[in-house]
This record gives sequence, structure tokens and C-alpha cells, in this order.
Amino acid sequence: MGKQNIQSLRGMNDILGKESELFTYFVENASRIAKNYGFTYMETPILEETALFKRSVGESSDIVNKEMYQFIDKGENDVCLRPEGTAGVVRSFVENKFDRAGGTYKWYYYGPMFRYERPQKGRLREFHQFGCEVFGIDSVYEDANIIMMLKEILDFFGIDFTLQLNSLGCPICMPPYKENLVKVLTNIKTELCEDCNRRIETNPIRVLDCKNEKCQSLLINAPKITDNLCEKCDSDFEKLKEILDFNNINYVIDSNLVRGLDYYSQTAFEFTSNEIGAQSAIAGGGRYDRLVEFLGGRATPGIGFAIGIERLLELIKQKDIKEDTIYLGAMNEEALNTITKVALKKRKTTKTIIEYAPRSFGKHFKIAQKHGANIVALIGETELNNGTIYIKNIDTQEEQNLKLEDF
Ligand code: HAM
Repeated sequence: MGKQNIQSLRGMNDILGKESELFTYFVENASRIAKNYGFTYMETPILEETALFKRSVGESSDIVNKEMYQFIDKGENDVCLRPEGTAGVVRSFVENKFDRAGGTYKWYYYGPMFRYERPQKGRLREFHQFGCEVFGIDSVYEDANIIMMLKEILDFFGIDFTLQLNSLGCPICMPPYKENLVKVLTNIKTELCEDCNRRIETNPIRVLDCKNEKCQSLLINAPKITDNLCEKCDSDFEKLKEILDFNNINYVIDSNLVRGLDYYSQTAFEFTSNEIGAQSAIAGGGRYDRLVEFLGGRATPGIGFAIGIERLLELIKQKDIKEDTIYLGAMNEEALNTITKVALKKRKTTKTIIEYAPRSFGKHFKIAQKHGANIVALIGETELNNGTIYIKNIDTQEEQNLKLEDF
């Protein structure tokens, strides 16, 4: 019987080589920035009860409706692989009674998410997110802080982006707006696409971000949520814009930005890039002041975001970020001891590779190149006698002999 090689599932990738180096580089630096903003790491299970996502992300959303990896487990439980991270964090928040304890909480997480979508460039079935969630702060300054932190992460990696901003109102202003919108949509129903027709019934504001060009042209005169906010939502939105302006953060107001998840109220935002093709959203988030209550907890305001790590890495790859790699080699047996000692010191700060066999000068350079090292440091007889080390910086081609203690 012929054996066929088993391959990974469609839309699910191994993270290896250059990709894995960038992945850890991203997670380490994003974590550092999140910690500086007062966040601590937390983790929730990848598998959760299906009801969790139905109640939070929403039964009418595409994510829950069409894209869940859902199954009945051996104990007859209806479970699914998480399509996103917020619902699990909120479940944990309530389960651990932080809602009852009161106070503020800031957590970050990263890990795999699963959506049964049609794979294409930038769209996977297993992808990774880096997310942050804040509980217990209803000040709009926190909305601004979250946006500024996300900007800082993207700036660190040298990424150009556009920030799209909207307010989705609250239980006071959203329902009458929706009602009005449904009236308008019903009048043009026959001209809208099939998906939009379904959405008029299930989730009318999703019609606003339909990708169909004909639908978009029909919606030009549809009412805008930003023109129909209640006093509190309107003044919060104005204040948010003011804080962003004050901090020189550019944004575009997009009143059609409704996000694909149902739990948002007030602030909603997306960071997009025009350098990665059609799947242009690198990160998205917003306020979800009612979600804790939806999931059975005591009403607690919440806000957060998630970055799509694969999409971000695609952009970092284009920037070709370089970190120093030192290659240490001995040109004779006696120098081996010294290079291990030097490695011990250099490894406290820098990636350092040692070649254990004594080699000629030229051979060392060949091996160093294979490792992608940009600093080659060698010790031979002369260096041993003088207490020095030979260094060549491959990027600048600069060569020097340094005192061992100065390297
Ligand atoms: P989301 O907009 O659904 O939000 O996902 C966040 C990011 O994940 C997207 O901007 C995108 O970069 C990435 N992403 C989504 N789907 C895929 C896919 N199929 N393949 C590759 N990347 C993808 C959320 O998930 C919310 N939980 C964000 C949030 C946190 N809101 C408040 N707190």
C-alpha cells in the first residue's frame, strides 16, 4: 500500500525559520510595551463552550454563524476552538469574581485563534492574535490610551498604518438609530445583495460595511450613527478626538466601521495598512461596556484590542528588521576555553553562536555566514598572547582588535 505524506490542514501553517524569529521578536517587544502600560499576562483555554461565543460575539455575526470550529466532545459538550480572545478573557473575569471585587484590571494575551474562512493572502484558518483587555475604567482617556499603546507597538516595528475610528453608540442611541436605518434599508431592499437582505433582519448595522460596491453606492445617503449619538456618546466621542488631536495622533472617522463582532458600544477602531493586500486590517478593537453583564457578571466597563500577528509579521518582513548575532570562533584548541568565557558574557545581552571546533580564519567566516551572523569574533594564537579578540562587523566591513575586557 502506497503511503501518502500527511500535510497540515488548509489555512493552518507551521511557524518556522525566519517567521518564527520574527514571531518571538514581535511577541517579546509587544509584551514589553504592554507591561509598560500596566498590563500583565494571562491565558485562557483554546477550547471553550460554544455558548460563550454565541452570547458575546453574537449569533448573527459571520464568525459565529459560519466560521466556528464547533463539535460535540466525548462528554456530549457543545464546544468550539476560540475564534477570538475577548470572550474567554471576560468569561474568566466573571468566573474569578473580579467583577464582584471591583477595581481595574489590565491583561494581555497571545495565542492561536480559529476561523473557518476561505483562506487567502492574509487570511488563515488558524492565526495568532496579541490582545489587551481592560476592565473597570469608563473614562474616555482609557480609550485614547489603548489607541496610543497600539500605535506605539506599531511604531516600534516601523509600520505605516491608518487609524479608522467610529462610535457605535449605546443602548440609548443605538436602538432608535437602528430602527431608522432598517426603514431606509427596507426601501432599497430589492437592490441590496443577498447577504444584506439577511442582515436587515439579523444585524442591520452590518449592512453598512458590506464589501459589495453596488450596496455601498446605495448607502451613500443612509443615516450615519455619528450624526445620531446621544449627548453622552457624542461628548465622549468629541473628547476622544480631542485627546488624540492633542497627542498628534492621526485618524479617519469612518461611520461605516461596525466591526464583525456584536459586543461593542461607543468607541470602535481599526488599524489598517495598504501594504498587505485586501485583508488590510492589522488590528481592531473597541469598548464593550455591556459584555461582562451579557456573560452573567456585574456590569463592568471594558475596552481592548487585538493585533493579527501574521498580518503584522508580513509588514515587519518587508522592513527586514535586524538584530545582532555574534559568531565566536577559535583558531586553535587553546583558544576554545576563552571563547566559551566570552560567550557567557555576550549571551547576557546578545544572540551568540559558538563554533566548538578550531578552524581556519576563512572557514570561520563561511560558517558565520550560514548562521546569518553579522559580528564575527575570533581568537587565535596572537590574540591569546595579547589578551585581545579579532572582530569584524559584516554590515560595515569594519575590522578591529579589541582588548578582551572591552568586547
Ligand atoms: P478582530 O477584528 O476580529 O477582533 O480580529 C483582530 C485582528 O485579527 C484583525 O484585525 C486581523 O489582523 C486578525 N485576523 C482576524 N481574522 C483573521 C484571519 N482569518 N487570518 C489572519 N488574521 C486574522 C477581535 O478578534 C477582537 N477580539 C478584538 C478585541 C479585543 N476587541 C476588544 N478586545
